Amino acid sequence: MRNNRPIGVFDSGIGGITVLSKLAEVLPCEDFIYVGDTLNCPYGIKTPEEIANLVTRVVRYLLSQDVKAIVIACNTATANSAHLKEFVKIPIVGVISPTAKYALKVSRNKNIAVLATNATIDSKSYQKLLDKKGIFNRGKKYFVKCSEFVTAIEDKQFANDYSFKLVKDKLEFLADKNIDTVVLGCTHFGLYAQEISRVLPQAKLVDCGGPTSQLLKKIMKKEKIIADDFRTGTIRITTTGDPKQMKKQIDWFDKEYQGIFKVEI
Ligand code: DGL
Repeated sequence: MRNNRPIGVFDSGIGGITVLSKLAEVLPCEDFIYVGDTLNCPYGIKTPEEIANLVTRVVRYLLSQDVKAIVIACNTATANSAHLKEFVKIPIVGVISPTAKYALKVSRNKNIAVLATNATIDSKSYQKLLDKKGIFNRGKKYFVKCSEFVTAIEDKQFANDYSFKLVKDKLEFLADKNIDTVVLGCTHFGLYAQEISRVLPQAKLVDCGGPTSQLLKKIMKKEKIIADDFRTGTIRITTTGDPKQMKKQIDWFDKEYQGIFKVEI
């Protein structure tokens, strides 16, 4: 059976566009509706209750758009999404579990650093998945709160002196820790790949997009909700903030999309 209804994808802002980009590559026949809750960004310095309420609102909006599956393209939202299973009856995929599993798989020495928002680190979601004891998980893990990167990225501060210094000052203490894998545990941080690699050149950067897209594909196949394979998928981007500003913020996004529309949620 085939299903051509759209897939809902959301983040607090523009970070989830890095995940959307991978989703569109892995599932080219699917339609996507993206919500960037830019009005309420950043999520990462809010309380768990505040974040959970915002997540509920965005998810209710996406359900009203008749989506067939939802991707929480935001680690902070994923860490505060356990309550959704009470009312969401369609497949819903968060970014944390697939990304953590993938990082454990690719790391050789299991010395792994996770960079995420303050709220994601405080939730201990990555710690629970990565810091298990046992022979398969030796090595040391580092969990670094980097919410200040989110604000800088939303302000389009990347690939410049300011961004290189911001990241260097924050991460330099990791440079001699023999870390071979860095988890970009915030979907915004794919945009800081250059900055992070300059401080930790030997480390492989793991972002959420690839592992999450593969997991969604697997689930959709199992649920038999894949779109017809002769279709060309579409992307519709919406924001709770200013569409014109968002357009400037995502000028690096290289996929074709229908436009950026304002939504109230
Ligand atoms: N992009 C979000 C994440 O993956 C967080 C950004 C924010 O603090 O709103 O965690």
